[in-house]
Amino acid sequence: MSQDDFVPVNEPLLDGNEKKYLAECIDTGWISSEGPFIKQFEEKFSAYVDRRQGVSVCNGTAALDAAIEALGIGPGDEVIMPTFTIISCVGQIVRAGAIPVLVDSDPDTWNMNVSQVEAKITSRTKAIMVVHIFGLPTDMDPLLGIASRHELKVLEDAAEVHGQAYNGKPCGSFGDISTFSFYANKHVTTGEGGMIMTDDDQLAEDCRSLRNLCFQPQKRFVHERLGWNMRMTNLQGALGLAQLERLDEFVARKRRMGQYYTERLTGLPGVQLPLARTDYAENVYWVYGLVLDQSRGIQAEEAMKLLASKGIGTRPFFHPMHQQPVLKKMGLFEGESYPVAERMSRQGFYIPSGMALTDEQMDRTAEAVRQVLA
Ligand SMILES: Cc1ncc(COP(=O)(O)O)c(C=O)c1O
Repeated sequence: MSQDDFVPVNEPLLDGNEKKYLAECIDTGWISSEGPFIKQFEEKFSAYVDRRQGVSVCNGTAALDAAIEALGIGPGDEVIMPTFTIISCVGQIVRAGAIPVLVDSDPDTWNMNVSQVEAKITSRTKAIMVVHIFGLPTDMDPLLGIASRHELKVLEDAAEVHGQAYNGKPCGSFGDISTFSFYANKHVTTGEGGMIMTDDDQLAEDCRSLRNLCFQPQKRFVHERLGWNMRMTNLQGALGLAQLERLDEFVARKRRMGQYYTERLTGLPGVQLPLARTDYAENVYWVYGLVLDQSRGIQAEEAMKLLASKGIGTRPFFHPMHQQPVLKKMGLFEGESYPVAERMSRQGFYIPSGMALTDEQMDRTAEAVRQVLA
């Protein structure tokens, strides 16, 4: 098998206005975090998501860090969040001296099990972090109801749901503040990049300051607060704008991919496929995941190795936060167990799902999966 035959787990599609806008950056010399594409990208993406304010940053992890800081989450505060997510979600909570409080996943949607949230609330709870997983939104109405009854802040991590909506309202428009990632495997990519969104002008102002080292307008090099350099470059903004122009088309491509795989993989014994829809949303398949039933006697790791030998790229599912060595060493989550997330992590992986995936690559992938898991 040659390298050319390998089906990569992700490949972006960059054949719109990307080259044209990038050339404009180079021709005009606007390559740093000054430059017109950043503002255009912020304005157009936040308008798409129906938010007043968009603050671009250098990646989705940085977006979460700044959002947590801007919400004023500090020592002793508790933040309720799913255990099944990426480490980015927990970093700044822990660094700020706050405590992540975990919730297991729903076995069907793979999102945080909202019915378990209220039991986790204490007098120290400050916020709920929602993370929409793999393209299907979390059930927002009950969650927002809980947050409102208990006067909790809501942070929505919409990194994996560009172009998605919950009951017709765009993902990324919920709660006090939301975040996006534009890493190369996201529907809209800037290579590396992220955005914070909010309808609260003060929060947006705080995030703008935090991303720019908290320089002060009058006394530039005198700092009242510690920030970061999280600025996005005009080059990234150029890419983002070109990608955003095609987001509706990209969502349609992903939905077609999901349908294509589902048609070919339905019926494999003991293999759970992603839900195509719930009563509040239709999947946008950030990635197409598979979860193997324990009874199959094969774990994700072995299936992934067999698929690699057939030229098919895969990635494991997230490793839950309560099982992260770095967090356990801090004494967090002692004795806690979240069986659904543990099973998903052990038995789940995703197959090639990138925007540039061809029908031929999907056919080869589906055929290989059928051979390995039949
Ligand atoms: C849900 C979620 N949040 C945050 C991130 C972090 O984004 P980035 O890789 O841009 O730092 C990711 C990245 O894949 C993600 O999936």
